Amino acid sequence: MSTQFSAHWLHLREQADHRARAVALLPPLTEWLPDRHVRVVDLGAGSGSNLRYLSPLLPGPQSWQLVDQDQALMTAATAPDETVRVERYARDLRAAPVLPKGAPHLVTASALLDLVSRPWLEQFAGECRAAGCAVLVSLTYDGRIRWQPDDPDDALLNNLVNGHQRRDKGFGPALGPDAADTAASVFRQHGFRTWLSPSPWQLGGSEAVLQSALLDGWLSAAHEQTDTDHQRLAEWAARRRQHLDTGEGVLIVGHLDLLALPPERA
Ligand SMILES: C[S@@+](CC[C@H](N)C(=O)[O-])C[C@H]1O[C@@H](n2cnc3c(N)ncnc32)[C@H](O)[C@@H]1O
Repeated sequence: MSTQFSAHWLHLREQADHRARAVALLPPLTEWLPDRHVRVVDLGAGSGSNLRYLSPLLPGPQSWQLVDQDQALMTAATAPDETVRVERYARDLRAAPVLPKGAPHLVTASALLDLVSRPWLEQFAGECRAAGCAVLVSLTYDGRIRWQPDDPDDALLNNLVNGHQRRDKGFGPALGPDAADTAASVFRQHGFRTWLSPSPWQLGGSEAVLQSALLDGWLSAAHEQTDTDHQRLAEWAARRRQHLDTGEGVLIVGHLDLLALPPERA
């Protein structure tokens, strides 16, 4: 069973996602892409956040193939202007081949990679190598949750969440916080040049709604992950909510963006 994501949650995080993305990876990507019409595949496209962020930053006319198991989410993913063509494919990414038919220049995904397993990643990298395409995988959680002001039980929450992140999200045991580093290494083994760059969320007091949603989600994951720490977690959450109420809570969530360029163009 795959994890479901609500349109509300994807909307709530979209601005923070766009602000966080590693712009340093764009010049090597756009230099590598052809001058002509660019074909892009977006895996786990959801409601189109990656399309909205990336398509204005790529040169020239583009075709995007969006792939997601959730057809309803993808209805919100529309072309930003007439130079961009968008097709949507309701498909389960666990089935091989991962990539839809066609010869993409770029395969991209955002907020997806931490859900997948090592065998899935091997299959994905092999298909990208065969296609000779560039790969840009953004906003992969890296295991680091930092709060200000800090609290002695922040580490308890962080460790339990990271354990939960490694549970099966439908693809087999999830790579979770190790996903971006593992992907960089797997793509290098397939002959790709790789760049990893931090893309942390930095959420201030004015983003208390997003902080609060994260707190709620992590808290319930942490409770599922422990038999003994329920009281400590409840007290930690009460202290954190107080900081959010007074507008002094700052939250930094580590992510990594990965660019992988193939050894030669197909
Ligand atoms: C965290 S959301 C990210 C959505 C979008 N890329 C974004 O940045 O807003 C993960 C997406 O992966 C999709 N997904 C998860 N497991 C999947 C699977 N097995 N097959 C296809 N899509 C899947 C979900 O439906 C969801 O839209």
